[in-house]
Amino acid sequence: MNRKLHSFFDPTIGADSPNPGLDLEFDASNLPDLTDDTLKQERLERASTIPSSWYTHSSFHAFDIHSVFSTTWQYVGHESRIPEPGDYLSETVGGNPLIIIRADDGSLKAFYNVCGHRGGPLTMQACGSAKVLQCKYHGWTYLLDGSLRGVPRFNRTDLFDKRDFGLVPVAVESWADLVFVCLVPTRSLSVREQMKEFDKRIRPMSITDKHYHGREIYELACNWKVYVDNYLEGYHIPLVHPDLCDLLDYRSYVTEISPYYSLQYSPLKSEGHIHNAGSGDVFYFFVYPNFMMNILPGRLQINRVVATGYRSCRVIFDYYYDRLQTEEARQMIEEDYSFSRQVQEEDIEICEYVQRGLESNAYDRGRFSVDAEKGVHHFQSLLKDSYRNALGRSG
Ligand code: FES
Ligand SMILES: [Fe+2]
Repeated sequence: MNRKLHSFFDPTIGADSPNPGLDLEFDASNLPDLTDDTLKQERLERASTIPSSWYTHSSFHAFDIHSVFSTTWQYVGHESRIPEPGDYLSETVGGNPLIIIRADDGSLKAFYNVCGHRGGPLTMQACGSAKVLQCKYHGWTYLLDGSLRGVPRFNRTDLFDKRDFGLVPVAVESWADLVFVCLVPTRSLSVREQMKEFDKRIRPMSITDKHYHGREIYELACNWKVYVDNYLEGYHIPLVHPDLCDLLDYRSYVTEISPYYSLQYSPLKSEGHIHNAGSGDVFYFFVYPNFMMNILPGRLQINRVVATGYRSCRVIFDYYYDRLQTEEARQMIEEDYSFSRQVQEEDIEICEYVQRGLESNAYDRGRFSVDAEKGVHHFQSLLKDSYRNALGRSG
């Protein structure tokens, strides 16, 4: 079964549903199981997993948007997709429609994709190019710096100043040609600071020599945290991904923890075994809360996990390669997509079962394998930090 729902050119690509925006109210008194005990940081050997209600109670969706997704840097795409002034991408982040655009001076800008008149969209496409941004509702026009320029049929409106109705900007940052935005950046270190030691760690591989190839989107019937937990351990590989397990030297699988990211790596079993890509290591690199890079010889996959509801999420896969054009490259890419889909289907199936298990009467909290689940523990510790910050509770 292929769960890919959108092709890259589908204009609904950026849409979360049903719009869980930044303003979405949450009432902390409705949130179960946020106690000193559940929010406590315990070392891995002693810790329990987070309560099942954090994955299953409807109130946690708004709380996650507020406390996690609005305050962290969110990957939106690669700079090469918007090389010229006026080129843009549209994305939904934390339920908010955004447009990321190359300005006239070559810099990157990001705005809410929301017109100041009555909230219409500047674009309804996933990507495109425009000399000015024209609202698709009544035609107000904006310059690429976000200032309002053209306002048809407004000469009889009193006390109207165009300067009050420019596009609302959003923080944008580029790191290794990857573009990130953040709705409320006050609590988050810059992407560059978070990634400090990353380059050294993956040498001799690099992510800046890769070319964007395409995007696939998967819709899952599980909470976003189920997918992230699953990503962060190789413990499940032998049972869930037997074919992948055959390619990896599983006994050498290691997880490393840094303050802001975690890294799982494994050598490939034998040279050339994985789709003629040569030898090397496989890196699964995670930046809190939802950014993943799978780095293999000759290729890079980037995943962003989007919370679309308390028991649904979307996983956006962007594929990058060293080479795109040669016959050999095309064949490798085809095989890479096919194998990635297989692994993704296996993960989706188990994650959806886990969601049902978490919703059952039988389960509340579990324990961690110290050998194999320190990445999950690291993620859940950072999640507790986010929750405590949002609730105004100290460590
Ligand atoms: S909502 Fe944009 S012009 Fe009316
Ligand atoms: Fe997996």
